[in-house]
Amino acid sequence: MVKLGVNIDHVATVRQARLTVEPDPVWAAAAAELGGADCITIHLREDRRHIQDRDFLLLRETTQVRLNLEMACDDDITTLACDHPPDQVTLVPEKREELTTEGGLDICGNRRAIDVIKRLKAANIPVSLFLDPSPKQIDKASELDVDAIELHTGAYAEASNVEKNDCLATLINAGEQITKAGMLLNAGHGLTYNNVHSIASIPQMHELNIGHSIVARSIFAGLENAVREMKILLTNSTAVS
Ligand code: PXP
Repeated sequence: MVKLGVNIDHVATVRQARLTVEPDPVWAAAAAELGGADCITIHLREDRRHIQDRDFLLLRETTQVRLNLEMACDDDITTLACDHPPDQVTLVPEKREELTTEGGLDICGNRRAIDVIKRLKAANIPVSLFLDPSPKQIDKASELDVDAIELHTGAYAEASNVEKNDCLATLINAGEQITKAGMLLNAGHGLTYNNVHSIASIPQMHELNIGHSIVARSIFAGLENAVREMKILLTNSTAVS
C-alpha cells in the first residue's frame, strides 16, 4: 500500500501571516494522523517563512507516525537535525525568492550536498533526496548510499493532457532505476485528488508527500477528513496497480 506523507507547512504559513500562535502545526499533525497520515512532513526553510524551530522540536516529541524533515543543504539546520534526529531528512534545493520548491536537487558535483549527506548518515538519520527523474542524478544518489529518492512530480502535475503520458513514462523509468539500485521510491509536488491516481499506481511506489491540495481541501472539509479522502484514493490506486 502506498503511504501518505502529509506536508503541513501551509498551516504554519497561515500562522506566520499574523505572527501569532494559531493555527498550530502540532494540532495539524495530530489531525492528519487521525485521518490516517503515515508520515508528517515539514520543511524548515533557511528564512523560517513558515515552519519554525519550535515546531520541529515539538513535533519530534508529539508525532506518533514518522516525522520527515525537509531541508536545504544548510550547515546550521544540519546541526539541528543531527542534535535532534527526525525519522528522515529529505534534502531539497532552496531559493529565497521561490514560492515553493521549484526543481529537484542537483547532486552532481555538489560538495555541499555530499558533506551534509555524510553528516546526516553519521548521525544515523535516513536520507532521502528530492530529485528530478534524471538517470544521471539517480546514479549519483545511489553512489552516495542514500536511503530513498523522492521524485519531483511537478512537471507531470503541470503537463498538458498531451504531455502527461511522456512525463509519466519518465517517472516510471526513474522509479525502476531507483528500486533496482535498492533505494525506496517516494514522490511528491503538485499532486492533487484529481491527478494522484497515476502516480500512486507506479510500481513499487513507497510514499507520496502531499501538502497544498490536502490543506486547501481542509478549509472546507477539515484536515482529518481531507487526509482520509486522500488515503482512500491511495488505497484504491494500489488495489488496481
Ligand atoms: N515534496 C517536497 C520535497 C516539497 O518540497 C513539497 C512542497 O513543499 C511537497 C512534496 C508537497 O508539494 P505540494 O504542496 O505541491 O503537495
